[in-house]
Amino acid sequence: MLAKPSNIVPGLKAAFSARQPFNHFALNLSPQAVQVFENLRIDKAGFYNNFGADGVVHADTVRFVSELGNSHATATLAADVVYDLAQSVYEAMGAETSWLTLRASHPNTNFDIPRWHQDGLFFDFDAPGEQHKVAFALKGATTFFAHVNGNDRREFNLIARRASITDAAERRLAIAKFVKTLRTEMTPVGHGSVFEVGSETRSGVHSEPPIHASRLFMSLLPGTSAQIAQLRQEWKAPLTMFKL
Ligand SMILES: [Fe+2]
Repeated sequence: MLAKPSNIVPGLKAAFSARQPFNHFALNLSPQAVQVFENLRIDKAGFYNNFGADGVVHADTVRFVSELGNSHATATLAADVVYDLAQSVYEAMGAETSWLTLRASHPNTNFDIPRWHQDGLFFDFDAPGEQHKVAFALKGATTFFAHVNGNDRREFNLIARRASITDAAERRLAIAKFVKTLRTEMTPVGHGSVFEVGSETRSGVHSEPPIHASRLFMSLLPGTSAQIAQLRQEWKAPLTMFKL
């Protein structure tokens, strides 16, 4: 039997309440859980999306992780962790539910040039700049963040919008060149990150890391049940979806 992960709630609460563009918190996974994810097979690339259907997160994760090439027992242990982490994120952030994503990746070169960006607003909101995402790698490379403050942020936004750049690859390269001059960091191993979205002055500037080994990534957009239902409607997305 897998020991439950230690409680992430106090660490995430502290990271969240610091109101930084991004901040990290310890996942406190048990040694057994770390081992499960280290040994996890990622035979297929794909993702799982869940818009607030928390009742099926555990069962769906068992199915998803099994489909990746793992035994039912291993998949159940992984699902225990995924479910516990999601519930802890809701508790720490005062959320009812989330848009939850699991993403399995094979080694690739797609992000050798980072895709630096800020996420936009997800919910209709009277107070823009108060929406956050939580993300962590359960296996493989962690998320890449950049410290973009003051004039650097103005410059970043200018390049991100520069009309003379019409090609997406060219824009990615121009932004990456600029961010190379700034301080960057990866989410520390064994940690997750909480970052602000929807504010050009405060959002966490982030990218997928170079993915040169199998990776299992989890992200949550916490919200109320009504917010997540509305987001799903806007995106015309099914309640849950597998793509493998
Ligand atoms: Fe993003």
